[in-house]
Amino acid sequence: MKNYISENQDRFIQELLDMLRIPSVSADPKFKNDVLRTADFVAGKLTEAGADKVEICVTGGYPIVYGEKIVDPQLPTVLVYGHYDVQPADPYELWDSPPFEPVVKHEKIYARGASDDKGQMYMHVKAFEVMMQHNALPCNVKFMIEGEEEVGSDNLGTFVKENKDRLQADVILISDTGMLANDVPSITTGLRGLSYVEVEVTGPNRDLHSGMYGGAVANPINILCRMIASLHDEHNRITIPGFYDNVVELSKEEREEMARAPFDLEKYKKALDLQEVHGEEGYVTMERTSIRPTLDVNGIWGGYTGEGAKTVIPSKAFAKISMRLVPNQSPEEITEKFTQHFERIAPKSVKVLVKPHHGGEPVVTPTNSIAYQAAAMAYEETFGIKPVPVRSGGSIPIVAMFKSELGIDSVLMGFGLDADAIHSPNESFGIFNFLKGIETIPLFFRNFAEMSKKR
Ligand code: BES
Ligand code: MN
Ligand code: MN
Repeated sequence: MKNYISENQDRFIQELLDMLRIPSVSADPKFKNDVLRTADFVAGKLTEAGADKVEICVTGGYPIVYGEKIVDPQLPTVLVYGHYDVQPADPYELWDSPPFEPVVKHEKIYARGASDDKGQMYMHVKAFEVMMQHNALPCNVKFMIEGEEEVGSDNLGTFVKENKDRLQADVILISDTGMLANDVPSITTGLRGLSYVEVEVTGPNRDLHSGMYGGAVANPINILCRMIASLHDEHNRITIPGFYDNVVELSKEEREEMARAPFDLEKYKKALDLQEVHGEEGYVTMERTSIRPTLDVNGIWGGYTGEGAKTVIPSKAFAKISMRLVPNQSPEEITEKFTQHFERIAPKSVKVLVKPHHGGEPVVTPTNSIAYQAAAMAYEETFGIKPVPVRSGGSIPIVAMFKSELGIDSVLMGFGLDADAIHSPNESFGIFNFLKGIETIPLFFRNFAEMSKKR
């Protein structure tokens, strides 16, 4: 299989570049046709690789691409999940080359979606091709590739609920996360949840001359800034009452275990051009980005931001705020606590409105399962060292739903790196990572099928 991969690697890369050329930005309706075209592309490639019953399943939003290969109903089934939609590429001017004109440079593919998640999802399509070409698919496989992950997977939930039989499987396999480094493979064992809100603060009923009225009426931007600043205390803890109530604290042993994963703070700071890191007192960086909840402003606007100066007290100010959640916080609970608190701290001089957006439950995946062991052994074979389990800070809300709705655990075999700059300008994915993924995935299938027999 290794030979087949090296003989065909140029074609694999070219195919990925073709997919990356389609701007499948799910958040922006302007790209609707491109998102739909990407679904067609994925369906076509699944069919070419040998999948049966390939279907572009219509939903209330963008379609879900389904395909399967059932070699024997008695054998175990792996359900592969991924997404073909991408984040918006803005700001375009910060890209060294256009986001939808992929280039290969320094052994990396640069394009929006290169790592998140087109490159990683496509590893599975090619790994499937490799297994099919060698008559070496050791168990059943189903593919479910969606087009709305970056906007909250609203319609996937309904699809999953309505297709429980079709989606029956023994494990869900996902490559939509990262690993520590190319010489430090890791398997993601947890994802944070998400509560996302938009706030609107209204002062006077119209924009005012900041000389005539300045000093006498509340400026909603000033007020919003003060309110936001008050959401953290001097220990960088979140001040919303009850915010930490349900947070599962890790034991000393668990934290010591976590600290064994290699992490170089100096390198981390250097990569981000930071003098110092920042975060909740009493926790180290790796903990702050995985086992601790957070609150961050993602965007803030209002008033005049055009050329030159305009003297004005704006009528309104806005912000988008994300809260990353950990077990056992729930997005409903946290959104409710945020809303109550935010309304309560607003001075009478303004009105506030809190609009909840999508959310997601946090999840921790088992490390004592056959599937995890099968993945760990696969990495060990291709990387030459055992992968370390690492809880990640990102969110894939659907993973918790797979567990609650289908009763199936996921294995998060991510091959991306922090340096891939997902969601940022100049997103990239290493050729090494792409090919390593294609090489490692069939070994997971082999191990999983083997180990399931012995159960
Ligand atoms: N692939 C990411 C999630 C991710 C990235 C997990 C890195 C672990 C490490 C996914 O596409 C994503 O961006 N998810 C969103 C949530 C979604 C509801 C918009 C996120 O985490 O912001
Ligand atoms: Mn993703
Ligand atoms: Mn993403």
